[in-house]
Order: sequence, then structure tokens, then C-alpha cells
Amino acid sequence: MKYVIANLKANFDLEKANEYIKYMKKNNKDNVLYAVPYIYITNFINNGINTISQDVSSQNMGAFTGEVCASQLKSMGINYSLVGHSERRKNYQDDLYINDKIKRLLENDIVPILCIGENKEERDIHKTKDLLTNELINAFEGIDHNKLSKVIIAYEPIWSISTSGVGIVPSNEEISSTIQFIKDYVKKHYNFDAKVLYGGSVNNSCIDELEKIDNVDGYLVGGCSLKYLEFEKLINRIK
Ligand code: PGA
Repeated sequence: MKYVIANLKANFDLEKANEYIKYMKKNNKDNVLYAVPYIYITNFINNGINTISQDVSSQNMGAFTGEVCASQLKSMGINYSLVGHSERRKNYQDDLYINDKIKRLLENDIVPILCIGENKEERDIHKTKDLLTNELINAFEGIDHNKLSKVIIAYEPIWSISTSGVGIVPSNEEISSTIQFIKDYVKKHYNFDAKVLYGGSVNNSCIDELEKIDNVDGYLVGGCSLKYLEFEKLINRIK
């Protein structure tokens, strides 16, 4: 089964979150994970929904106002966390912290889902592979290769994300060859078989086409995961 990650970002007030939970809890599937705002983690977990984190502190527990650390997530039963989402790289200087965040997650036995992807300009000047390689090198620096084998990678071309890009999904050939490039690079330099997800405007109009790609291990879904009826349809169409 492929992974499907719902990235709810900073959406929903409590009433909307509860409405969402009420609908989705009857649909809970092992391969579908919900990256929810921190403040609603308990509400989701208590309703039996597979809940993961959208981010983590680069620090251990201590005097770091506003942060949520990996050991706290673990104590809540969280076993996966997104890290390095492009919105965090752009708005919160996450490039500086991703390596430490991955270390904290691995120390606490939480699977990092590392997001990488090029912006439109980098793609236009054919720098996609350089950018992806740099993001991988920075993220994995100084980490024992044996420990890295758990890491999941989400390839999200920034220009195809519905809210920050143009919302256009790359062709299947483009996605497939970039994913293969990532898998080969990770195998060669870090010696593990990475699972690689695709993210960027995944919705019901493109999913049947995306499902023809044979090296994608799942999807990271933003906008479409917010509408529970749409998301329910989407998950049922993924093999
Ligand atoms: P999107 O978002 O599905 O709305 O393009 C994906 C993401 O930002 O992870």
C-alpha cells in the first residue's frame, strides 16, 4: 500500500477540526497519516486517527518558548514527522535547522518525512538535480547511514504546490525520473532504499494519471486533504 499523508497545515478552528475528525475517523486506514496542527494532536489521537507531526524543534526539551520537541511528540504516540516542508524553509529559515531536526527525530525513534523540491526558477535553469542533491547532503550531514534508512523522502516541486506555486502537476515522466534520481542518489551515497512520495496539487483530477507511475511510494496532499469528502474519494482511488 502507498503512503498518503494529509498535510492540514495551519487550517481549521476547533469546530472545523472536530467536524473533520468525526467524518474521517470512520475512514481510518493504516496507510493514511494526518499531519495535524500541534494544538489538535490530542483530539485526533483520541479518535483513533493516525496522527503525525508537521514539524519538530531542532532542540531537546528545555527552555525554548513556543517549540515542541521530539521526545514530547514521542510521548504522545507520534511516530512520524514532516521536516523541511517548503513553507517552513521559506518562512522560518528551516534550511538552517533541518539537519538537527532529523537528528532529534531519529534519536527519539520518529520517522522523518523529509520534504525536498525545486522552485520554478531552479527548474527553468535546469538546476533541479543540484538543488535536490544539496538538500539531501545538508539534511543528512553527520548522521550514521544505518540510522538514515528509516527516513522517507517527499519530493515536492515548489512550483506545483497549490498554494505557493502555479498548481500544475509535472508530467508522469518528469516525476518518475526525478524520483528515480533521488532513489539512486540516496542508494549510492547513503546506502539505503528510500521510499519517495510525490507532493504538489495531488487531487481527484490528477490521481488516476499519477497512479500510473510505478516508482512513487505515496503522496503528500495539502489542499485536497482539507475537504473530507474530496479526500475520502482520493484515498479510495489510491492503490
Ligand atoms: P498541495 O500542497 O497538495 O495543496 O499542493 C502540498 C503540500 O504543500 O504539502
